[in-house]
Amino acid sequence: MTAAGYDGVMRLALERGFYFPSCGPYGDAPAGFWEYGPNGTAFKNRFLALWRRELVRRGGMMEIDGSQIMSRSVFEASGHLASFADPVVKCGACGSTFRADRLVAEKAGVAIPEAAEPAAFDAAVAEHGIACAKCGGALGGARRFNMMFGVGIGPEGERAYLRPETCQSIFVDFPRLYKTMRGKLPMAVAQVGKSFRNEISPRQSLLRLREFYQAEIEVFCNPARLDEAEGFPEVEGVKLRLQGGEERAGPVTAGEAAESGAVPGRLVAYYMALLALFYEKAGIDAERSRFRRLGEKEKAFYAEAAFDFEVETSAGWLELVACNYRSGHDLAGHAAGSGEKFEVDDGGEKVLPHVFEISMGIDRSLYAILEHSLREDAENDRTVLALRPYLAPVQVGVLSLVKKDGLKERADRIHRSLRGDFDAFLDHSGAIGRRYRRLDEIGAPYAVTVDHRTAQDGTVTLRSRDTMGQRRVAEEDLPDALRGGLRIP
Ligand code: GLY
Repeated sequence: MTAAGYDGVMRLALERGFYFPSCGPYGDAPAGFWEYGPNGTAFKNRFLALWRRELVRRGGMMEIDGSQIMSRSVFEASGHLASFADPVVKCGACGSTFRADRLVAEKAGVAIPEAAEPAAFDAAVAEHGIACAKCGGALGGARRFNMMFGVGIGPEGERAYLRPETCQSIFVDFPRLYKTMRGKLPMAVAQVGKSFRNEISPRQSLLRLREFYQAEIEVFCNPARLDEAEGFPEVEGVKLRLQGGEERAGPVTAGEAAESGAVPGRLVAYYMALLALFYEKAGIDAERSRFRRLGEKEKAFYAEAAFDFEVETSAGWLELVACNYRSGHDLAGHAAGSGEKFEVDDGGEKVLPHVFEISMGIDRSLYAILEHSLREDAENDRTVLALRPYLAPVQVGVLSLVKKDGLKERADRIHRSLRGDFDAFLDHSGAIGRRYRRLDEIGAPYAVTVDHRTAQDGTVTLRSRDTMGQRRVAEEDLPDALRGGLRIP
């Protein structure tokens, strides 16, 4: 079986505790809900620690943790009740429902943006004689289906919604944060959490989920000062690989993108550069990534300009992050909806801030990193998950060469001493080569082996996943040796 590509990642995910379908034993398990096992959870936590380091802290942001259920008025004001909908068509014979844009693309090769009017889909269905993909029956007219999950609160079932994006609490909380945290523009607020969308056709495990993780950053800024970004000189040479609009594929730098007006100013280019650097550190091959400028009909309803950060995988180019210039849409909407003031003082001027957003899909990002890191090493008869060492779920395996002669007890002791500071995995059973291969497959960058020499001179073998090289290290030097290898550059 090949290690690479979607199937290889799927096998690894299911067999090695990365992720698996929710409600597994039950026949009525709904599609689009997946769970992280121990290795997936540890990997996700490390990915988020890197996000906090490279974006939240480096970009001088603050982080909040908001509610997942929000009131009806929030989504009236945000526009989601009216506009957060996908086009669908239903079969008159078997009742199956399909996303109209995907069905038309698959059956007739016609690309119609999801935001197009229902009549555009009806015309394509008629022109190309498109029928139900399941039974061949005639399709009814297209309509728009709102993707929010409603919930009933309390005994009266008061209508509220599971948030379809985490950022709404950041917008609603903005005036309080600005005041209590002594904010000044530009001010960036970050949040990690679950969002919920009633997708019509969830598919491909983590790639299209109904319940998913987002890490979102909302940068509040003065629209008249979009060219001011303090850290810009540090990143102006970073390649953005912009595509779309005026720019064709190519390694356009952040500086060139801001100068040419391809992005709405240095502030936006600054955050896009931080994002590109972050994904490189996370193990995404930069040559297989790009920022794609979305066309008018592809953008979300709230975006004035939008750039998707996309990564090439065996499942095609995947959107990992939506970078949306949301202008004043959100704060103006919440000011009107709530009657509260969302304007702030910026150097003596009253401003309703605009918002630039970096909305990251965490699950998809984890998938893409797994796919870019998983490889078959045929020469050495092994599968290797070459994650960056600082992202590996297990950092070090501790093995006894054999269980007898006190080696097991010594390995147990080393494992106990390491596990306070490292994610260490203890393994005594099976051939040593097979144990190394199991560690390679889950991406553990190091393995420590206790052998007969350990009893004589107090040294252990430290094996590297990537080179398969081994060196002797004194037991007491292990923590420093591991720390050095796990450091983020
Ligand atoms: N907040 C933007 C999105 O969820 O796509």
